[in-house]
Parts: sequence; C-alpha cells; structure tokens
Amino acid sequence: MEALVLAEKKLAKNGFLDLDVDPTLDLFVEIEKLKREKNAIILAHYYQEPDIQDIADYIGDSLGLSQQAEATDADIIVFAGVHFMAETAKMLNPQKKVLLPDLNAGCSLADSAPAPLFRKFKEKYPDHTVVSYINCTAELKTMTDVCCTSTNAVHIINSIPDDQPIIFAPDKNLGAYLQRKSGREMVIWNGACMVHEIFSDGKITKLIKRHPEAKFIAHPECEAHILEKADYIGSTTGLLNYTRDDEATTFIVATESGIIHQMQKMSPSKTFIPAPPNNTCACNECPHMRRNTLEKLYLCMKYELPEIHLEPWIIDQGRACIDRMLDISAKAGL
Ligand code: 13P
Ligand code: SF4
Repeated sequence: MEALVLAEKKLAKNGFLDLDVDPTLDLFVEIEKLKREKNAIILAHYYQEPDIQDIADYIGDSLGLSQQAEATDADIIVFAGVHFMAETAKMLNPQKKVLLPDLNAGCSLADSAPAPLFRKFKEKYPDHTVVSYINCTAELKTMTDVCCTSTNAVHIINSIPDDQPIIFAPDKNLGAYLQRKSGREMVIWNGACMVHEIFSDGKITKLIKRHPEAKFIAHPECEAHILEKADYIGSTTGLLNYTRDDEATTFIVATESGIIHQMQKMSPSKTFIPAPPNNTCACNECPHMRRNTLEKLYLCMKYELPEIHLEPWIIDQGRACIDRMLDISAKAGL
C-alpha cells in the first residue's frame, strides 16, 4: 500500500514511475510473470528499443497495433509506444485498462496540430472530408472523418469519392506523398515528424555512392527530396517486408532506427545501414519512443500505472474515424 502511494506521487511529479528497480532482477522473467498474473498483453511499435521488442506479445506498425488492440481479449493493454497510440487503444477499449510506461512519450507530429487551431482551420473548409494520420491527438480525432496510417493511407484516400474535397492532417510530408501517389489535390496541414524531417540529403547521397549495391528505402514521413532518391517507400511494415523479399543484401534505411532490430532478425545475413540525420548522430532515434525502457515497462505492469484516461465525449466522438479506417482496411485485406 505504502509502495503504491509512493508510486502515485512519483507519477504525479514525473509522468512515469521514477522508482529504483532491483538490479539483480531478471526483468524478462518478471515481466512474463506479470503478463500471466494480470492477463496483460504488451503491444510494441517497431521503434521501441530491442529489449522491449523482444518481450512484446505483438510488434507492429500503427495499423497492426490498432488491429491488435481492437481484437485482444486481455484485461490490460500495455502500450510500448507513444501517447497517441495508447489513446487509440483506449478509444477502442474504453472498458479496459490501457497503460503507457511513460506519459511523456508524446509525438512531435501529433503536437504540430493543436486541436483549437485545427478547429478554426477546418471551419474554413466546411464541405471537406477530414482524413487524419493516426499520429494525432485524441481530440483531433473527434474532428476527423476517417483516420489512416502509412500502410493504408492510399486506400483510405482512394475510398473517398473523387469529387469530395479533402483536408489531410497533420503530416505535410505524408500528405504531399499521397497527393503524388493518388493524383488528388488536398488541403494539407503544415505538420511534420521531428525524426523524419532531419535526414541529411548530403550524407545519404554519400552513403548511396559508397554502397552502389545497396537499396535506399524510406518512410513516407520523410521530405520529398529524400523520397525522390528512394528505391522503395513504405510504412515500417512495408519497409520490413521489402528488406525480406528483395534480392539486395544491403539496405540504407531512412526511418527511426529501431526497425533495424526486426530487419536484422528477419534477414540475419543482410546488412542494414541507418540513414544519418542532419546532426552529429549516426542514426536517428525518436526521443519520444525511446522514453520507454524495460525498467519502466516492468514498473508500469507491477503498479498498473500510468494509465490512459480519456473523457467520455472524446471516446464517443473520436472512435468513429478509427472504426472507419479499420473497416476500409479489412475490406482491402490489410
Ligand atoms: P508506421 O509504423 O505506421 O509506419 O508509423 C511510423 C511512425 O512514425 C509511428 O510513429
Ligand atoms: Fe511521432 Fe515521429 Fe516519433 Fe513517430 S517517429 S512517434 S511520428 S515523433
């Protein structure tokens, strides 16, 4: 009881359980035990650190994670990802406990579209259908007609009648890519992901020159001048499958470098080079995704904190756009 009170205090102060973990504990064993005892499932995004990917029950992209969240019969969903992903899981499971190891694990892209500003923007286009990338806040989803992820975005855009004008939010890079792919003009919100925006054109050009045998692959959240160089553009799952199926043995990968853990597991004899960002780091990690650690995951499962709470009106008005996305995806076999 005392321990829980301390945990709650730490959570209120820091947004996560800033508690010491006995260094002699085998956290893999302890987390497995907690999963069984509590009937909990761990859903992890590919951008999580390797240890978290290895202990997860399901690792996937944003669409796969939403589909798993919708289908699970676990009592507790532990989301090893960022805030908007855990919110989506909560909207799909209002009766379940949804945990996020660190409430500070946000998303620069979601933050780039504050709901009050978007509300005003949307008022200027009253006849437009709003398509929002799932990387947005729960409140933005209440103003959205249909969500999309990078896996299903083209299908979602194509499902909207040709004469129906579209607002696309919040990612300007994904929006521009979708315009090029679908030939549809859209009104695009001016947001971006801090990770995919800072790939270095110059350093990538040099890498491609140094490894002429390598394929250069990129996530559509990257800027157009990076995408122009790519042999393949796709969601994290798309990129992963491409490296498995393509005959090339070396790949330069322009997305968050966490995915390379799965690429390497899937194709152990192939070589993966993370595309470098425009700073002194060799690879590009999302500071939000990387807030989660194995220790925080363990503490979060032990104390069942931090928990995601959403106001009922947000769940009521925000869920429809996710359901619509899941429906269209299922019909498209995604
Ligand atoms: P996907 O894994 O759906 O491609 O999304 C990438 C991303 O940026 C998640 O934050
Ligand atoms: Fe958000 Fe970009 Fe991090 Fe994904 S990689 S969570 S879009 S900041």
